[in-house]
Amino acid sequence: MAEDFSFFNKDSFIIKPTKKSPLVLRMVVLMFAMACGVYICLICLKQINTHSKFISVQVIDRPCNASGIEQWEIPYVHYPKPNTFSRDECTCNPVRFFAILSMQRSGSGWFETLLNSHINVSSNGEIFSVKQRRSNVSEILKTLDTVYNLDWFSSASKNGCSAAVGFKWMLNQGVMEHHQEIVEYFNRRGVSAIFLFRRNLLRRMISVLANSYDRDAKLLNGTHKSHVHSPHEAKILAKFKPIINSTLLIPNLKQVEATTAKALEYFKSTRHTILYYEDIINNRTKLMDVQEFLRIPPEELKSRQVKIHKGSLSEQVENWDDVHKTLKGTRYESFLHADYQM
Ligand SMILES: *[C@@H]1O[C@H](CO)[C@@H](O)[C@H](O)[C@H]1NC(C)=O
Ligand SMILES: *[C@@H]1O[C@H](CO)[C@@H](O)[C@H](O)[C@H]1NC(C)=O
Ligand SMILES: *[C@@H]1O[C@H](CO)[C@@H](O)[C@H](O)[C@H]1NC(C)=O
Ligand SMILES: *[C@@H]1O[C@H](CO)[C@@H](O)[C@H](O)[C@H]1NC(C)=O
Ligand SMILES: *[C@@H]1O[C@H](CO)[C@@H](O)[C@H](O)[C@H]1NC(C)=O
Ligand SMILES: *[C@@H]1O[C@H](CO)[C@@H](O)[C@H](O)[C@H]1NC(C)=O
Repeated sequence: MAEDFSFFNKDSFIIKPTKKSPLVLRMVVLMFAMACGVYICLICLKQINTHSKFISVQVIDRPCNASGIEQWEIPYVHYPKPNTFSRDECTCNPVRFFAILSMQRSGSGWFETLLNSHINVSSNGEIFSVKQRRSNVSEILKTLDTVYNLDWFSSASKNGCSAAVGFKWMLNQGVMEHHQEIVEYFNRRGVSAIFLFRRNLLRRMISVLANSYDRDAKLLNGTHKSHVHSPHEAKILAKFKPIINSTLLIPNLKQVEATTAKALEYFKSTRHTILYYEDIINNRTKLMDVQEFLRIPPEELKSRQVKIHKGSLSEQVENWDDVHKTLKGTRYESFLHADYQM
């Protein structure tokens, strides 16, 4: 029994290692083969990945590369891919983004019709006059995205071959309120700002008062018009002479000046230019400067709009003597004099 036991024990002792070693060996070989397989697979996958990336760069996302773009311009040059149509042959024409920042009755409507007379400019009007579009920052940014993706439709849309796309934006339509996010957006998306102000703020005030009077009075056959296209219409609208509250006159002028200065301070980090209505009227080379600023091929720009208030200011205000007395001797005195001819 004891021998048997020891034999059995010995036998098992001897056989076990001979049985175990091929198993271990096999396992090692198997593991090695698996490791090799996984390694080869990984390399293959890597190659397929880089290969497909390479293909997609070459075929799907082939970048547009317009000639004559200077290094500094690159952040301001865009190739939008609209969702609503195809830019076709103009797919690789570079597009600049702009916004005309202005105040009511500063000539921005007239300025915009001039810009839109350019074959490659789409300035889409006062899109934020609709309150819902400026109800919060996300609504504003969503609207901006649509405009700059060329997916905004207005009578000014030039679709495929736009070289500059933008709109006009009054400072009191969310610009001042949400300036931080808007400036961040302008810098991130490469939007250029065109500030358009009026030097003679007294003339602007008369225009504001007359326009708000006409909003109710509707002097032109029962319709209110902010801008007119014939001298006859202009004459009718200019018949109304507003009364200016002389107590509020200087505080109002100061407030407009302060808003202007604040807006320029807020937007000083953006690419911008500052224009004055009077300068454009007196010197048409200013329009060439604007086209140069937007980097579009220069054209002769035209507008059909007719100025409503012309000539001497003393004939446009009911209480001229009060106004004259209030401003005489102040730094606003120059506003009393006609400072441009038309
Ligand atoms: C664009 O084209 C210019 C020459 O016209 C070349 O020097 C530049 O490397 C190109 N850029 C890209 C991103 O292809
Ligand atoms: C912003 O306004 C729109 C419509 O006025 C509304 O649907 C949306 O929920 C608002 N978003 C935020 C973040 O308040
Ligand atoms: C301007 O528009 C015309 C006509 O649509 C087009 O042929 C031309 O390429 C455009 N120019 C630019 C700079 O986009
Ligand atoms: C009002 O309409 C009539 C007829 O259409 C026209 O003759 C007249 O000039 C219009 N008046 C104004 C102020 O536009
Ligand atoms: C001018 O405005 C002030 C403040 O609103 C008002 O008290 C005053 O009566 C106004 N004057 C005239 C002539 O309307
Ligand atoms: C018109 O404006 C240009 C620059 O925009 C300036 O160089 C030129 O001197 C101006 N001409 C007059 C007459 O002011």
